[in-house]
Amino acid sequence: MKTLLDDQARSKATGGGMTGETLAIRGGRPLTGRVEVKGAKNLATKAMVAALLGETVSVLRDVPDISDVQVVRSLLEVHGVTVQQGDEEGSLVFDPSGAVSAHFEEIDAHAGASRIPILFCGPLLHLLGEALIPDLGGCRIGDRPINFHMDALRAFGAIVDKTYEGIRITAPNGLHGADIELPYPSVGATEQVLLTAVRAKGVTELRNAAIEPEIMDLIAVLQKMGAIISYEPNRVILIEGVESLRGYDHRCIFDRNEAASWACAALATDGDIYVGGAKQQEMLTFLNVYRKAGGEFDVHEDGIRFRRGSALKPVVVETDVHPGFMTDWQQPLIVALTQAPGTSIVHETVYENRLGFTEALVQMGADIVVHPQGIDSPDRRVPRRALEQAAVINGPTPLHGADVVVPDLRGGYSYLIAALAAEGESVVRNVGIIRRGYEKLFTKLDALGADFDVIG
Ligand code: EPU
Repeated sequence: MKTLLDDQARSKATGGGMTGETLAIRGGRPLTGRVEVKGAKNLATKAMVAALLGETVSVLRDVPDISDVQVVRSLLEVHGVTVQQGDEEGSLVFDPSGAVSAHFEEIDAHAGASRIPILFCGPLLHLLGEALIPDLGGCRIGDRPINFHMDALRAFGAIVDKTYEGIRITAPNGLHGADIELPYPSVGATEQVLLTAVRAKGVTELRNAAIEPEIMDLIAVLQKMGAIISYEPNRVILIEGVESLRGYDHRCIFDRNEAASWACAALATDGDIYVGGAKQQEMLTFLNVYRKAGGEFDVHEDGIRFRRGSALKPVVVETDVHPGFMTDWQQPLIVALTQAPGTSIVHETVYENRLGFTEALVQMGADIVVHPQGIDSPDRRVPRRALEQAAVINGPTPLHGADVVVPDLRGGYSYLIAALAAEGESVVRNVGIIRRGYEKLFTKLDALGADFDVIG
């Protein structure tokens, strides 16, 4: 018998010994129905940090109910920001008037595995003259470098000290506008510069900036607060620092990563999924690849319907910064490509180690070979990066159930849809990680007709 746990029921079940971390999934049936996507994780968490910069209350709407939002909420609370439920479901109200410094241990206790504490630097430096980033043992942050962030903060006049507890950043003489060129259009480093430059004295010119739709939405949030930000062609952003900022009232941009994930679930399981809240503009690149891979979609006013066309087809994809094919889209797409006749190639150019999740797909019957140093293929669009990898997927291969452990957010989601596409039963462990970025996951899977039990 099915045991369905939504977020509320889950906490009750936890008392009964189940944590909602392990699912038994019986696959082989198409996912069909409608799901709604809310605000983007990768905007909501940053807009929450921006609330620290305002002198009045901010309201953020369509905030997804995910654990990453909880992490940022508690980090704000540790810094004296009051966070309350707003006047509509999914809205949060932030009052930064009581903002205070926090200690390394407190920040560390609330930060979890999140990288968001890095983005508190600019706002805290303006507010309190000091920001702390915990770095216990050095590996938590060291695995994903923060050199672009630290170099940018130094350019604004901050002093970065490494201590045994972590990194202490101070700005005894305040922060001034800077001339910064990022070595790579990093999303986080661009956000760092925006959140710092808006109140720095003078003009900041940022070159080689990331221009993801979530960054543009963060710029919209900051402009509502009183910031003066313009952008020019070729990834140049200009920020004129202002004396003070006020609070904002903002509805988050939709989560295009979640929308793409459900789209791939429809493709992989031969289902038919209407993703309410999905919009075309921000997904143009994804939709092109989806069509080339044999997917069909219909764009409507309030969402996009996704399903297979007549047949799946192999594709060659390179992940890239926007407007390229996002690195967060490749994992669920790869599951669908295991069912396409022929050879597909996915070049991962953004992160150096984001294809390891395919090992579990191989365990489920997929034919995927990862080339750790990348491979050359004709007609590359993205210049080859030193750290890239490539996956060669030969299909179609029937998938069968397996016992797998979720490694990370997007890889974990791809295990879910692989298990749903596979014949037989799978056990998927560590599902809690997927809740970092997918709200009401079990409720949505249930609405789509997935056959699963929460077994631990
Ligand atoms: N990089 C450096 N030094 C830095 C910063 C980045 O070398 O100081 C490198 C990274 O190692 C990586 C590349 O630059 O190779 C791009 O990293 P970026 O800074 O753009 O990534 P991020 O800001 O840490 C965000 C999203 C990711 C998403 C990437 C790319 C958030 C919280 N995370 O990460 O989302 O994959 O941009 O679009 O916004 C996810 O949602 O699961 C996720 C990982």
